[in-house]
Amino acid sequence: MAMNIFEHIEKEHREVEGLLEQLSSSYDRSTYDRLNQSLQAHMKAEEESLYPAMEGQESEMIQQARREHDEVRQLLQRLKQEGGAQSVLSQLTQAIEGHVQKEEGEMFSRARDMFDQGRIEQLSQRFEEVDQRVIQQIR
Ligand SMILES: [Fe+2]
Ligand SMILES: [Fe+2]
Repeated sequence: MAMNIFEHIEKEHREVEGLLEQLSSSYDRSTYDRLNQSLQAHMKAEEESLYPAMEGQESEMIQQARREHDEVRQLLQRLKQEGGAQSVLSQLTQAIEGHVQKEEGEMFSRARDMFDQGRIEQLSQRFEEVDQRVIQQIR
C-alpha cells in the first residue's frame, strides 16, 4: 500500500533536513537545486491538499502555516542570490525546523481527529499528484 499523506510529508521533511545538513557542511548549487525543487513541490502539495481540507476548522493554524511557507520561499530565493551565505542558510534552517515541528505535532494531531480513513486516502492521493507535478515542472 502507498504511503499515506502523513508518512509522505514526514519522509519529505527528513529529506529536506538531510539536504540542509549537506548544505551547511558545504554549499553547492546542485544540492541547492535539489532542496529548492523538493521544498517547492512539498509546500505546493500541502497547500493543495491538507491545508484547504483543514482551513474551515483551523483557519488560524493554516494561515500561519501559509505565511511560514512564504517566508521559506523568500529565504530560498535569498540563499541562491547570496551564493549560499551561512547566515541565510541558518535562518532558513530555523524557519523550516519550527514549521516542521508544528506540522508533525499540532497540525497532524488535529488532522487525525478530523479525517476518516477515506478522506485521508483522498488527501494522500491529491498530495502525491501535486508533488509529482511540481517536481516535473522544475526539474
Ligand atoms: Fe508546510
Ligand atoms: Fe511540510
